[in-house]
Amino acid sequence: TWTPDAFVDTTVADLKDKLGDDRVILGLSGGVDSTVAATLLHKAIGKNLYCIFVNNGLLRKDEFTQVLKQYEGMGLNVKGVDASARFLEALEGESDPETKRKAIGRVFVEVFDDESKLVENAKWLGQGTIYPDVIESVSATGGPSATIKSHHNVGGLPDYMTLEVVEPLRMLFKDEVRRVGASMGLSPELLGRHPFPGPGLAIRILGDITAEKVRILQEVDHIFISSLREWGLYDKVWQAGAMLLPVNSVGVMGDERTYEKCVALRAVESTDGMTADWVNLPYEFLQKVSNDIINKVKGVNRVVYDISSKPPATIEWE
Ligand code: XMP
Repeated sequence: TWTPDAFVDTTVADLKDKLGDDRVILGLSGGVDSTVAATLLHKAIGKNLYCIFVNNGLLRKDEFTQVLKQYEGMGLNVKGVDASARFLEALEGESDPETKRKAIGRVFVEVFDDESKLVENAKWLGQGTIYPDVIESVSATGGPSATIKSHHNVGGLPDYMTLEVVEPLRMLFKDEVRRVGASMGLSPELLGRHPFPGPGLAIRILGDITAEKVRILQEVDHIFISSLREWGLYDKVWQAGAMLLPVNSVGVMGDERTYEKCVALRAVESTDGMTADWVNLPYEFLQKVSNDIINKVKGVNRVVYDISSKPPATIEWE
């Protein structure tokens, strides 16, 4: 029978065999998969694993610095690259969801490629691909569902990258990845993190993106997510986040009329993201979060809660 401990032992031994003294480059995202893949590779080859963690400026509030610190604390050989300005520039004036995704994918590859070139004699590219990604990218070559949204987690490499790919989690499902991570001592907090899309807040800011909109959404998201944790609801939800709508509405503050932004909160239950139900969060919770957001985040005067399930609504709004 399959056990995480045995998987770790055999995989680390196989990786040692396969990689020898070769150098491996791996992109960390802050997510569970890339972190577990990096930890396995680190066990096998130590400092020959070169991790790159790119800040696209579209991560959650303070996530880049906090996660980078966490990685360093785990002993990983990691370089944090803040490319926020480059991503924002590429997104300027773009409001079509697929165009935004493509711009982000393109800049990511450019940044990652520049950084990879700094690692001399690298032979391999490590990836946190898991079994469902493999299936999805196979069907993405022909299946009609492939064009629904162009996820760029898999196969986003430029042709001229001549690295061989090593994917230690290729045969695992998500729950197995979590168990493998736990058996290597990764924190439950890290392993229980909600999924977060590669294009990040870009697809939660409907329409075009500006630094100011990113800042507003980061504040809103931070209040929502930290409140879920405080109320013990975080682990009951599969994924949660906030959407910044391209809508201003009238409000009133003191004697003043306001005309400001509206945000939608979304929290779903799911097993794989293919289908999802909105979560019946307590009214008291929603009331508190809404008050906090409107009182603390300048530029927002209205909060709504998304009560649509997937299908037909998707989890993200773009
Ligand atoms: P949807 O919105 O299609 O989302 O119901 C299903 C799951 O996929 C995530 N998602 C993405 N992840 N790149 C990603 O890496 C993307 O472009 C992307 N679009 C959606 C979404 O967060 C949810 O978990």
